[in-house]
Amino acid sequence: MARSPRSLVGYIWCLVVAEGAVVDLAEWSSAGWFVQNDGVMGGRSSGNLQVSDSGARFEGSINLDGGGFASFRRDFGWFGERNLRDYAGLWVEVDALAESSLAPVAIHVELDDASERSGFGAAMAIPPGPAGSTYSVFLPFSWFRKQLLRSCRNCILNPGRVTGVGIVVLYQEGFFSFRVRKIYAVSSESEVPSSAGRMPTLTTSDSDVWKMIRASILRGSYAWNQGYPEQCGALYNSTAFVISSARNISETVQSVARAATSYAEQFPLNLGNNAAWIYRRSFDAISAAYDGSAPPPESRYPQVAHGDWVRTAMSGGSVQPLPVSDLANELQQQMVSGAPGQFALRSLGLLFVGCMHFLVSLAD
Ligand SMILES: *[C@@H]1O[C@H](CO)[C@@H](O)[C@H](O)[C@H]1NC(C)=O
Ligand SMILES: *[C@@H]1O[C@H](CO)[C@@H](O)[C@H](O)[C@H]1NC(C)=O
Repeated sequence: MARSPRSLVGYIWCLVVAEGAVVDLAEWSSAGWFVQNDGVMGGRSSGNLQVSDSGARFEGSINLDGGGFASFRRDFGWFGERNLRDYAGLWVEVDALAESSLAPVAIHVELDDASERSGFGAAMAIPPGPAGSTYSVFLPFSWFRKQLLRSCRNCILNPGRVTGVGIVVLYQEGFFSFRVRKIYAVSSESEVPSSAGRMPTLTTSDSDVWKMIRASILRGSYAWNQGYPEQCGALYNSTAFVISSARNISETVQSVARAATSYAEQFPLNLGNNAAWIYRRSFDAISAAYDGSAPPPESRYPQVAHGDWVRTAMSGGSVQPLPVSDLANELQQQMVSGAPGQFALRSLGLLFVGCMHFLVSLAD
């Protein structure tokens, strides 16, 4: 039966209405995505982008010499400026990292803004998980605070004038590989199915949890020292959530990580440093427990991380101590080897310096 012009019009109208609440900002294959690395400022990081209809795989390596970032982005073009004022934020869906990854990978999702000629980033992290699992995050526009292209005083993202979108990997030395499936503008958080935001359940071991925490602190404190505390927060957040939901690890460790995630929830990581300190205190307490020692006193942390929550979470449980110096050696090997899903360190010493800065600021 031939379709009459009128029913065709009706069909188009339906599509427009059905899509009203969600806008695809990625439009993968048709959108002219391109790679932009730190080579523009003399750096030596690499990034290789493969785009298909279902998403983009970005793979490469971050080199901290003279730069330290790789990104892929698209511009909406001269007449393509988007007015997203009626939307609440972005729904970003990624594949979980390879299960063998040492730690989550943090990224900044960037929105470019014609009114400020700047790019504003919100940090999130991609957790490891079983093959085939995906993970979704909702990023409200109010979280897009980090000025990535140009710094301007008191300027904030104007969602009414968005001219482009990008994904940026910063300061996590060595190999990375991840896949982004969706970048949608949504009119409310409820448009992201809650099942999509569930952390993939990682089956792991206490030794690997010890390494994940160390790796996370090394990378997170480096980013923090470079002026990206929200990236440190995103990494810690993801590590704490992975531990909270993992299988085959110590219950007491899990209970400390859960206490941190639920306590930190009132301090969104893109709006300040409080969450990062809460996660950090929980990581230090877990590391100490694996080492068979007492957790550091709360006076080592800012006020916001104080309280009985660590002691409460640990009470009644015990943690089997681990051979931490052997694990530290293994970790260093794994970092240097830079195997897929892991990361290499040009110089572990350098990152320990970064970590010490972090500890200094921790003592202030
Ligand atoms: C479960 O934990 C034990 C003890 O830490 C470890 O030996 C084992 O490899 C872990 N299983 C998996 C699948 O990681
Ligand atoms: C941690 O990340 C999850 C997933 O993006 C988010 O729902 C949660 O609010 C974050 N926590 C904080 C303290 O920002």
